[in-house]
Amino acid sequence: MTESKKKVLVLTGGGDCPGLNAVVRGIAKRARKEKNWEVYGSIEAFNGVLNEPQQIIQLGTRITAGIHVKGGTILKTTNKSNPLKFPVVQKDGSIKETDRSAELIQKIKALGFDAVINIGGDGSQKISRVLFDKGLNIVGVPKTIDNDLSATDMTFGFQTAVQIATDSFDKLVTTAESHHRVMIMEVMGRDAGWIATHTAIAGGAEVCLIPEIPYDIEKLVKRIEARYKHGKGFVNIVIAEGAKPKDGTIVSRTGEKGSEHVRLGGVAFQLSQQLKDAGCEAEIRETVLGHIQRGGTPTAFDRVLASLFGVKAMELVIHGEYGKMVALKNNNVSYVSLEEATRNYNFVNKDSFLVKAAKGLGISFGD
Ligand code: F6P
Repeated sequence: MTESKKKVLVLTGGGDCPGLNAVVRGIAKRARKEKNWEVYGSIEAFNGVLNEPQQIIQLGTRITAGIHVKGGTILKTTNKSNPLKFPVVQKDGSIKETDRSAELIQKIKALGFDAVINIGGDGSQKISRVLFDKGLNIVGVPKTIDNDLSATDMTFGFQTAVQIATDSFDKLVTTAESHHRVMIMEVMGRDAGWIATHTAIAGGAEVCLIPEIPYDIEKLVKRIEARYKHGKGFVNIVIAEGAKPKDGTIVSRTGEKGSEHVRLGGVAFQLSQQLKDAGCEAEIRETVLGHIQRGGTPTAFDRVLASLFGVKAMELVIHGEYGKMVALKNNNVSYVSLEEATRNYNFVNKDSFLVKAAKGLGISFGD
């Protein structure tokens, strides 16, 4: 008698991130080594299952070949379809959040799936945890350029974002130097300053402003003036989108309908104005890097990390180790429970060696 095939459903949720396709390929390639597993993908996170008609594709060799090099996600993604708080547009245009988790689990089971691999950030893994508690065989894979998940030493996508930001920073240095200007470069990262701090060190910034260390504008002006004291100087500042002044608030914009997050962005312009208001006489220019940081091909490091995560996630599925999220721990790919995965946010610690070393390199955090 031939053994019946088992089926695993893979999806990518939340914002895209370089390396997602390498995870999908890693899962598919590892599964092919088993004779009894087939891999499918749900298009646009759980929408592929919830929507009618459903959109689910088999991830055969032709579809996954060579995709580890490609940015974005071949499975598409969204951050507006949390099945626990699914945004349903009402007749009057307002949004009503509906819990569709029971329907989702029933549909996944009816489709004959034995397991699900959810590739996503903090929000996605919180969803994984609830679905696991409700009886779904699920494994998580952490992704985000922000590196803000505490249960893994690093997320894939982060290195790529830092590389892109550093390449951009290097370009801004030469123009800052030529014009004797203050250049402010705003990077992503939400409430964590990982991208900013790494970019500031890699690029050799004079100033790095992060959400974890509110800045003092007077101190910044003094720091800038000191650079202009002996002839004409120039200053390169990296600021994280979630940074704020002492006693100030973050700069945010209204998100789209159904989005769970407030949109950050624009703090570079706020800082520019604050510096001028505080008497900074140097010419200032602002650059907001935005989604450039999330696009394009992943770095070699991120391709490797993402591929290892994919293989590990599939192995957890093969061994029936559900309710887990793969993680990088002490240079080894292992896993943590979804409970641990979603417990703490990963902030930059202002007393860490990372920050102390940056200060040792002469970088001011405006504190
Ligand atoms: O979480 C990744 C991230 O790129 C953040 O750094 C940024 O604040 C946010 O997503 C942007 O989200 P969106 O793509 O929805 O504008």
